[in-house]
Amino acid sequence: TKRDALTRLQKSVNKLVLTDKSQTQKNTRAELDGFEQLFSRYLLDNVDQPSIDWQEIQPPPEGTVIAYKKLLEANIDDAKDLLNKLIVVKLNGGLGTTMGCQGPKSVISVRSGLTFLDLNIQQLEQLNRTYGCDVPLVLMNSFNTHDETEKVLQKYSHVSVKIYNFNQSKYPRLDRETLLPVATSIEGSENECWYPPGHGDIYQAFYQSGLLDQFIEQGKEYMFLSNIDNLGATVDLYILKHLLTDQTKHEFVMEVTDKTRADVKGGTLIEYQNKLRLLEIAQVPKENVDEFKSVSKFRIFNTNNLWINLQAIKRVVEDKTLHMEIIVNNKTMEKGVNVIQLETASGAAIQSFEGAQGINVPRRRFLPVKTTSDLLLVMSNLFTLNRGNLVMNSQRSFPSVPLVKLGTSFIKVKDFLSRFQSIPDCLELDSLTVSGDVTFGKGVSLRGTVIIIANHGDRIDVPPGAILENKIVSGNLRI
Ligand code: UTP
Repeated sequence: TKRDALTRLQKSVNKLVLTDKSQTQKNTRAELDGFEQLFSRYLLDNVDQPSIDWQEIQPPPEGTVIAYKKLLEANIDDAKDLLNKLIVVKLNGGLGTTMGCQGPKSVISVRSGLTFLDLNIQQLEQLNRTYGCDVPLVLMNSFNTHDETEKVLQKYSHVSVKIYNFNQSKYPRLDRETLLPVATSIEGSENECWYPPGHGDIYQAFYQSGLLDQFIEQGKEYMFLSNIDNLGATVDLYILKHLLTDQTKHEFVMEVTDKTRADVKGGTLIEYQNKLRLLEIAQVPKENVDEFKSVSKFRIFNTNNLWINLQAIKRVVEDKTLHMEIIVNNKTMEKGVNVIQLETASGAAIQSFEGAQGINVPRRRFLPVKTTSDLLLVMSNLFTLNRGNLVMNSQRSFPSVPLVKLGTSFIKVKDFLSRFQSIPDCLELDSLTVSGDVTFGKGVSLRGTVIIIANHGDRIDVPPGAILENKIVSGNLRI
């Protein structure tokens, strides 16, 4: 029964705590308590079944998702005071494995030899210098990224931005058959036996770290939280002004943006049981998935740029009123053991806060780099770099970025880089599809719709200086 499963897990977790020889047994206990709570909710909620009643879903009511444009009417003459109430938190728990890199994703070079971390620090340096303010950068690391991040941060000891680090929790992966941890001891078991439980962990972990109280004491009021790989997630003075001066107090604001056919899987905002909630694809009953993906019914999606009141975080953690749906992530370990990891997402917490609101922001605030196809865009002349800020090149005649699909030979950053002698001119590109063994010479220009397909055993070398405009190139065609 469920009760037995819970008791068995608790016993097994207790054993794990006892094997902890480090100085931090108390922390380990607290952390694993959090895990036990998550697991017992998992057993009781039956989360394998979507728990949403589709009929009860309503579009967000008037006024709960506002247009960013409306905020631009504000007069910002108090930027320094506003900014001194802000902290910037970046989610830095993830690795660069999807792009074939070892180590934290934030240390991958994205532009002019600068990493995600470099760009973020430059942005804040510039902000603090311009307004004479003191906005700190806070990184939430995981056990996967902490050591390497600390090492890299040493080179920033001289910058004018205060940088803080804290670690999110480390939870045990569970064998899918037995629902027991695969780890047998805290220090002795491999990293593979553990996982960082998603970015929803931020609230608890930030509280636990002591930093939350520290910032509240310093007079900080809001955090701007975002994925470190979203290069469009810069501090926005209009949103900050809105938060600090609107008559209604908004404890939680989610930046959403208009959905295109490329982002049909993103979470969307709904009203459900009188609360503003984030609806993720995993919660949607199978028969409604197509409807969920529809661009006309659900027009916006979550960018994961979140603005959250610090006092409110303290309240929901202390009162235990924080609620986030559990995401069950199935994985297979190297040795073939099937495991589950229970995770939560930071945006799902929106339902636990008062005065929650969505702001429909321009697409430029969502510029994530998940794949080397994204990397091609941000490295190209579609953007210019201005002190850590990527700005769309004014010479591009329309504001959207091209659709790029690079094939499997381009997945790893190393392979991707070796296939371009220089990054092609993409200013007039609408869409690019590349598949197979393809390389690009120096100074190539891509315009309109370009498709390049090298069939198995063939190879296509796009010659230096080539201009490809609305062109399909395949194995037996010459350029
Ligand atoms: P991901 O890259 O894994 O998520 O993490 P995603 O594919 O954008 O989808 P969502 O946002 O989960 O819906 C997004 C950010 O969260 C961090 C990553 O480092 C990245 O910056 N992250 C993720 C953590 O800090 N901890 C985690 O446990 C998971």
